[in-house]
Amino acid sequence: MDRRVISGTVDTVFELDYSVRAEDMRSLYEKAKRDQWNATRDIAWATPEPPDGRVLAEELIDIHGSPIWERLGERDRIELNRRITAWRLSVLLYGEQGAMLVCSQLVGIVPGADQKFFQASQVMDEARHNEVLERYIQARLGGLHYPMPENERFLFDTILTDPRWYIKTIALQLVAETFAVSMFKMMAEAALDPVLREVCQRILQDESRHMGFGMLALPGIVREASEGERREMEDFTCLAVEKVLTGFFPLEAYQDLGFSPAQIDEIRSYRRGAAARNDYAAYRKFFRRDMHAAMVNNLARIGLLTERVRPRLAALGIALPAAA
Ligand SMILES: [Fe+2]
Ligand SMILES: [Fe+2]
Repeated sequence: MDRRVISGTVDTVFELDYSVRAEDMRSLYEKAKRDQWNATRDIAWATPEPPDGRVLAEELIDIHGSPIWERLGERDRIELNRRITAWRLSVLLYGEQGAMLVCSQLVGIVPGADQKFFQASQVMDEARHNEVLERYIQARLGGLHYPMPENERFLFDTILTDPRWYIKTIALQLVAETFAVSMFKMMAEAALDPVLREVCQRILQDESRHMGFGMLALPGIVREASEGERREMEDFTCLAVEKVLTGFFPLEAYQDLGFSPAQIDEIRSYRRGAAARNDYAAYRKFFRRDMHAAMVNNLARIGLLTERVRPRLAALGIALPAAA
């Protein structure tokens, strides 16, 4: 069977007080109940596909505009469009499964009934995201999946085995979901298939609540942390940011299209050059700006944009406002 087993132990907190103790957290849970949707019923699956088979704007393909791209025929361009989309959606699909598993642990570990209730709702949300992306891949991309990238596997293994709820929340609800929100926004904007656009927009509705959990739960614990604990939080933040920002290259999609190792090297160096010059299409420029600004803003709000963190973010290419 296609599955991985990750061993770990966590402490489960059985709450006995179910009164409202954190009102803003309880109202986030109320919103989660109010805004549930159903991937079976609420997505217009019968909408016709784009006639030429392209699902995403060509500008989102790394090599768009490069000499290699110019040499590709129409059929290969469409094939690459579908394969790169399947590769991106596979990464997001594993992220949704990972998020569901992390939140199911959080239900047990996090203290407080309000927090547990909200996490229970997030488990349901992430299951729905996992379900809807799989349905999309089956319905529109012929069931094409690509393997989980090493960085993503490493990140989720680390989150799932760390016993502390706030470390899981920093990595998931703060870093990974900030990244995912910008990614889904970009995909929704760039989708040529209206069903893909709708799927991304639906997922986005839930994601802002999930980030809200981190924004409500983390500032207090960061404020009260000892020096040693704060350093661990800072280090974990930087590790998670590094993992979500690097190491995502759709190698297998290019291989499937028959690119030789020499051509793949050419693609990699074209990508590096584009990154160094920040020479991206408008969609990507917006994504980078949006994601970097959201990351910096969210870290500042919870008190983790510290003097130790700032230079490490800058080294990852994240633009920072001058220190206050
Ligand atoms: Fe999700
Ligand atoms: Fe989420």
